[in-house]
Amino acid sequence: MEQQVTLIKHPLIQHKLTIMRKIETSTAKFRSLLKEISLLLAYEVTRDLPLKSESIKTPMASMHAPILAPEKKLVIVSIQRAGQGILDGMLELIPSARVGHIGLYRDPNTFIPIEYYFKVPQDIDKRNVVVVDPMLATGNSAVAAVERLKSTNPLSIKFICLLAAPEGLKHFCDIHPDVPIFTAAVDEKLDENGYIIPGLGDAGDRMFGTL
Ligand code: URA
Repeated sequence: MEQQVTLIKHPLIQHKLTIMRKIETSTAKFRSLLKEISLLLAYEVTRDLPLKSESIKTPMASMHAPILAPEKKLVIVSIQRAGQGILDGMLELIPSARVGHIGLYRDPNTFIPIEYYFKVPQDIDKRNVVVVDPMLATGNSAVAAVERLKSTNPLSIKFICLLAAPEGLKHFCDIHPDVPIFTAAVDEKLDENGYIIPGLGDAGDRMFGTL
């Protein structure tokens, strides 16, 4: 199966991402920009949501109008803690979406993800899943999160990030070639600590002011 990696090059996203990258950008600004970009990413990732027709009355006439097909429900699964920033933006656009959380931390020496929390809706096997994490660096957390989610048998899975490293993209695509990825940028490389270069630093620290 061919992997789909979609680079979302919308000028507003690119502009806001540049401000997020800057070292002098404040925590408050970083957080609000991530939320704004997430709205735009959500718009792209939901392009293929199926519609059905409903008969309604406007003040002027009756008509058949499109609404989202209710049976194609979404779950947004946030990889903690940085996924929260994208989740907040997406929920503003899709308030009826259900939410799941996966808690993973990177072992600082091996970069291997360790799961400490997993909570998703019970009917996830009847839902389409969108996994969110701003940084696809080594890809280890994303790979582990998607592996865990696949064991719950959802209808489909998509992965959204803000920034990806080529190494992480390759790793993810090798293990999960069936999961489409949406990202706003693909940077140059990883450093020896698994950080994206030039990147934007630690997204969680910048979002929560824990630098
Ligand atoms: N996680 C981050 O927050 N930043 C990186 O550069 C890599 C992983």
